[in-house]
Amino acid sequence: QEERDAVQVGDRITRSHAHTLAGSTVAGMRTIDWVDGVIEIIDQTALPGETTVLRLSTVDELIDAVRRLAVRGAPALGVAGAFGVALAVSTQPDPTRAIEAVATARPTAVNLARGVRRAAARVPEGFDAVLAEAERIRDEEIASSVAMAKRGADLVRELCGERPKLLTHCNTGALAAVEIGTALGVVLELAERQQLAGVIASETRPLLQGARLTAWELRRAGVPYRVAVDGAGPFLMARGEVDAVILGADRICANHDVINKIGTYSHALGARAAGIPFIVVAPESTVDEETPSGADVEIEERGAAEVAGDLPAANPAFDVTPASLVTAIVTESRVIRP
Ligand code: MRU
Repeated sequence: QEERDAVQVGDRITRSHAHTLAGSTVAGMRTIDWVDGVIEIIDQTALPGETTVLRLSTVDELIDAVRRLAVRGAPALGVAGAFGVALAVSTQPDPTRAIEAVATARPTAVNLARGVRRAAARVPEGFDAVLAEAERIRDEEIASSVAMAKRGADLVRELCGERPKLLTHCNTGALAAVEIGTALGVVLELAERQQLAGVIASETRPLLQGARLTAWELRRAGVPYRVAVDGAGPFLMARGEVDAVILGADRICANHDVINKIGTYSHALGARAAGIPFIVVAPESTVDEETPSGADVEIEERGAAEVAGDLPAANPAFDVTPASLVTAIVTESRVIRP
């Protein structure tokens, strides 16, 4: 435990780390990076019990990691897609099919296909150009996180006043965004400014990104938090235990409908009923002007076994929150008030 806590999430993984970490249990690195010709990720399926680094050296390994949510969260998926193109170019004489397979590994977060497209546009210039583009996307995401944290914290203060109690859903921290995060970056910024009373992490059934990943990040950052079952959100809001909902997005449509982890829509309805702000924090790389509305987005349907063992199940991984329920969308460059 001590060793794990010695290294903070967000620290740059070094080459020597990579070799001592591989397949073992130390925390504290970028969620995803390109190291010595392969993609390195923190295996998010193993958290919070174990902090394991995976080295992905083939496109098939990357696609498997994306599908199992070993790497996840919209900004991190964009970076994964771009590094995936670098992997395809470095391992295959004709990378076209492999590149397409990476772009479609998961359908809902716009960042994945977008990251792939940006890096793929550099393929004619060769591997170095592809890798440079992928690293640019990674660095842009980190810079966006820094800017969103400040802008979002200012907005929360404007909308909620002193030391609000917040509720967040899924995981939007460093694990989802290379470093820092989107909505959780705002939470951390508020905590650092001593302007936060506490956070409720909605557990996020069925894969528990809230209870496993957000709680892990908040604990490590020393931010006071409680985990609540997803269904408790609207009631906690009604009872005055939440001053605002703050969460991320996988895609923001042209009409400002917000696609995010299943359960987001319920929290938005709860926030509207309780009369509290519902704030979305996401980089411009998640804003998709080409998709008119939520009805046009493919919602990933995952296996029934994630929900209820052998029982038949409905398992949409995301939902659509209509723009009319959204108080504000914070990006690195603007605040949109639908
Ligand atoms: O299925 P996941 O875990 O990839 O879903 C992630 C989310 O829904 C996040 O809220 C979203 O990507 C924002 S990440 C900063």
